[in-house]
Amino acid sequence: MKVQGRHYRTIWTEGCGDDETLYVIDQTALPHEFKVLPLRSVEDVCQAIRDMWVRGAGLIGATAAWGVWVAVRTAPERGFSDFMTQSMEKLRVTRPTASNLVWALERQKKAMAGLSGKDAERAVHAEAAAIADEDAEFCRRIGLHGLRLIREAHERHPDRPVNILTHCNAGWLAFVDYGSALSPVYAAFDEGIPVHVWVDETRPRNQGASLTAWELGRHGVPHDLIADNAGGHLMQHGMVDMVITGADRVTRGGDAANKIGTYLKALAAADNGVPFYVALPSSTFDFSLRDGVRDIPIEERKADEVRVMSGLSPQGRVESVLICPPETSARNWAFDVTPARLITGLITERGVCEASEEGILALYPEHRHV
Ligand code: MRU
Repeated sequence: MKVQGRHYRTIWTEGCGDDETLYVIDQTALPHEFKVLPLRSVEDVCQAIRDMWVRGAGLIGATAAWGVWVAVRTAPERGFSDFMTQSMEKLRVTRPTASNLVWALERQKKAMAGLSGKDAERAVHAEAAAIADEDAEFCRRIGLHGLRLIREAHERHPDRPVNILTHCNAGWLAFVDYGSALSPVYAAFDEGIPVHVWVDETRPRNQGASLTAWELGRHGVPHDLIADNAGGHLMQHGMVDMVITGADRVTRGGDAANKIGTYLKALAAADNGVPFYVALPSSTFDFSLRDGVRDIPIEERKADEVRVMSGLSPQGRVESVLICPPETSARNWAFDVTPARLITGLITERGVCEASEEGILALYPEHRHV
């Protein structure tokens, strides 16, 4: 996507040979500052994922994949294999919910099996680049499949924009490019279909307000920021044609973990007959799980993400403020699980399917046997 006239992906390398360096966009600085950071060690990469300089399922996976390349380059000749095992483990535990992370590490493990030194470096570089390219391409295709749904909604009401509600950020910032939930929105907008997006602010970290609103604004897509709790009211009043969210992990039966609050939107959508779609690339499926509510690990993050908010002061400085009594304790679950029965369809790179084992396996028959 374009930022200040230049095309950016969310992760890339610059330079060549020993000077080649990994770069990411620091998403904690958005929307107030566009900052690019180099990641030179496995510790840098782990911090980038854990502290959410990079975030979103697809980008977490791509960053972990590039993190393996960083690890190989900094590994000692003697003790290479122990160093790599430890580095992979450090990367694996950075964030527990998005399946893309472990999926990417497994791909890298296979790519470097039996290799060391420059051979291993070449192999994991090629694999990281392939994972990143595939992520971007799959998201582009998700856009085309989701575009069909938006086009149909527009044909039903050609006299007004299609109103789409989204939660959190599942745009290009959450992937390598294009995004999942927002990719169909960009495709529809680029095709000239009038669209309008209701952007949930997405407490506690406000990915909707800070990232989705920024992305949509850069692309020129009309949108309004709404308080997290407004969605049900809008749906009751016919102001939402469809909900599209992303996902961090989806079971083989179609239960979808996504940013905390997604489940409540799905309940409101079901009560109001509003179609509720979840967009994801296949790297987000966890075919080993059947019951999402029971089995998907839900990350619990620091209480201060709930207690403290940050934003731009009238003086133009980014400042943090405490929003509760200092002695108040808080809990901070980062994700929830929307059961498949509340999901109208899954938008994947292979097409749109029912959120059920049968529907998913019709698109991904190679996963029929666990
Ligand atoms: O905690 P984050 O920002 O990494 O959360 C993940 C997300 O961005 C959302 O849950 C998103 O909708 C799915 S990831 C594409």
